[in-house]
Amino acid sequence: MIIDLKDLTPVLKQNYLQHAIAPRPICFASTIDNAGNVNLSPFSFFNMFSSNPPMVIFSPSRRVRDNTTKHSLQNVLEVPEVVINIVDYDMVYQTSLASCEFPKEVNEFSKAGFTAEPATLVKPPMVKESKVKMECKVHEIKPLGTEGGAGNLVLCEVLRMHIADEILNENGMIDQRKLHHVARLGGDWYCKVDETNLFMVEKPNTKLGIGIDALPAPIKNSKILSGNNLGQLGNVHEMPVIDPSFDDERLKSIFQYYSVNPAEMETELHIYAKKLLSEGKVQEAWQVLLALN
Ligand SMILES: Cc1cc2nc3c(=O)[nH]c(=O)nc-3n(C[C@H](O)[C@H](O)[C@H](O)COP(=O)(O)O)c2cc1C
Repeated sequence: MIIDLKDLTPVLKQNYLQHAIAPRPICFASTIDNAGNVNLSPFSFFNMFSSNPPMVIFSPSRRVRDNTTKHSLQNVLEVPEVVINIVDYDMVYQTSLASCEFPKEVNEFSKAGFTAEPATLVKPPMVKESKVKMECKVHEIKPLGTEGGAGNLVLCEVLRMHIADEILNENGMIDQRKLHHVARLGGDWYCKVDETNLFMVEKPNTKLGIGIDALPAPIKNSKILSGNNLGQLGNVHEMPVIDPSFDDERLKSIFQYYSVNPAEMETELHIYAKKLLSEGKVQEAWQVLLALN
């Protein structure tokens, strides 16, 4: 299917884009107006765009329903300060409750059962229950349109972070396994980050990977190895050579059983290499693949 965005209603545009551009982190923004009314609302049109200066952006849209603006936007236009609280699994249902369209004078801290904790540099309060809170100064507000659904970029400089000790490792850094982020997808879908769905992809930027185009043809054209597998193999920084000390029982038995049939042997070696790659054992997988030469 191919669709042109100009032919869609605002609701459909939003629907396709939100399902496709996912998961999105959630900014739980605490803001305040000149009269001291506090607002707390979640925004998944949110990300970081610079670390030095430390800049994050979230976007309260004009309502598709009636083209009105959200209280959070009105507040930052009056008082250009915000506390961005990171949403983790423990608070996701309460966070969703805070997104109800309550009247302006209603404080979502009370409605959603969160504890307001005074911030140290800005006026809006922090959400005590959030494990990472960022006190921010609003630098610029950039409207992206005038119709319902138009976003308003709120560019925020992060001045101070408050991080719960329980998510830190022994070096004072955030342990990714301890912060169970939730993220927004399309419709009512969310996802949860925890140890069971985290994995690591080694950064290739310190040394250049050899590239998939440099892989030997039988590996590159394998019917068994996937694009991810080739990506792992092509990320080594020099072409591996046979290691005579590589001693592996399964490799030996593949040689023993399939030596009469090279095609079957190649298939078996690729299946074994694929298994090793799924366990992150790239060097071992290379040794298995090189054994055929
Ligand atoms: C997880 C989540 C993410 C949301 N993300 C956005 C967003 O990025 N932009 C937006 O305009 N509204 C978003 N909403 C809806 C707003 O939170 C909702 O309109 C809120 O009531 C705005 O409140 P306010 O008028 O008090 O500022 C989101 C709602 C939820 C539950």
